Amino acid sequence: MKNIGLLGLGTVGSGIIEILEIRKEEIKNLTGHDIRIKKVLVRDLNKKRDIILEPDLLTTNYDEILSDEEIDIIVEVTGDLEMSYKYISDALTRRKHVVTANKAVVSKYFEKLLSLAADNNVAFLYEASVGGGIPVLKPLKEALFLNEITEVQGILNGTCNYILTRMIDEGRNYEDVLRNAQELGYAEVDPTADIEGHDTLRKLRILATLAFQGQIREEDILLNGISTITSYDIDYIKNMNSTVKLIGEAKIVEDGFTAVVQPTIIKNSNYFANVNMAYNSVAFKGNNVGELKFYGAGAGKLPTANAVLSDVLDIIMGTYRKGNPLGQRVLKNLNSKIRGKYYLRVSDCNAEIIRTLKRIAEITMSVGSITTIITEEVQLTGLGRLIDDLNIGNDRYFFARILNY
Ligand code: NAP
Ligand code: HSE
Repeated sequence: MKNIGLLGLGTVGSGIIEILEIRKEEIKNLTGHDIRIKKVLVRDLNKKRDIILEPDLLTTNYDEILSDEEIDIIVEVTGDLEMSYKYISDALTRRKHVVTANKAVVSKYFEKLLSLAADNNVAFLYEASVGGGIPVLKPLKEALFLNEITEVQGILNGTCNYILTRMIDEGRNYEDVLRNAQELGYAEVDPTADIEGHDTLRKLRILATLAFQGQIREEDILLNGISTITSYDIDYIKNMNSTVKLIGEAKIVEDGFTAVVQPTIIKNSNYFANVNMAYNSVAFKGNNVGELKFYGAGAGKLPTANAVLSDVLDIIMGTYRKGNPLGQRVLKNLNSKIRGKYYLRVSDCNAEIIRTLKRIAEITMSVGSITTIITEEVQLTGLGRLIDDLNIGNDRYFFARILNY
């Protein structure tokens, strides 16, 4: 018998219980063990839940789980940041294996948690933290043995992709589709993390740090989200025979790296244009393997629970990679080298703003008080500074990289 302490019983936690129940026999045949959820940590014992459990399974006291010697695997799916950091650290220190889907905690404490796990000779696994149900971190870690990875790129947030797909394909309004994404369990408790791009940034930080074998911190990544996109932008982009996706991308450049999360306008024929709704895709390039692309459900109850449980099975069967997967490479931040053409729409525009924008514009279009430009090739950090200097309020503009393929 293998006993699990489950922290969280929301979308992902209930999916974990559901799969374990349905696949009980197959799991026993594969691992030789029954897997039992011995205790479940929740915030509110009296909350009405879809899933029916023995009442004494639930607790609000983590110590009951931590001190239970029969529990040797902790599965953390609460979404809380600092509390979960403490709970995960305590569990690793007590030599319990930990699996999490929580990218916020992995991203913020990646190095600390992995070295704590290695010091205590236990596993810390986080497959579900990037790409939801897509198995991508395990193949990436395997590819590292034989390859120099030079690029990672992807649509990494299901909520944003769902919103953008429904706005483009159905002309739906931003607020309505965000609400749908929340109802479907894709969005974070505070969806700001999704729509402002922080969630994509965290996933890119995890991917790039593993891939490049050097620390790429959250603050090393340039960020621009989708929260200010309007139906005006959507119509403009559709007229370009294009679509728009929130893409995270990190590359090895000379003796350093570039890393950026930004809305990106791509032709309808581009591979990423067909990654729609809450699906994600992650691509990476290795010097031997070439380009590999992974595609699948980026969010949602069962796909995410599936990814969590594959980590659990790896622990039970001892098939996870032992030791610390991070490298010590020192890489320079070369984000100042990121250049490209950009779409920029400014609402309530005045003559001074238009005059300044025209200096970098290849195409300018004004409709009433809305002005849109397509820039010449510019430096991204320079464009950001220009927008700041013009004091255009955050809610008055939207900009996106334009890729011509
Ligand atoms: P959720 O539906 O909001 O569920 C969170 C659960 O954790 C709830 O059961 C809640 O208890 C419990 N919880 C939260 N804070 C707690 C605290 N301070 N103490 C004790 N229990 C606490 O979240 P979710 O969608 O399942 O996501 C869980 C994690 O998986 C997050 O880190 C998320 O980013 C990650 N993730 C989610 C998805 C997805 O598609 N949803 C995909 C990949 C990764 P109560 O039920 O009592 O409120
Ligand atoms: N909120 C996240 C998303 C969940 O929409 O992608 C999966 O990480």
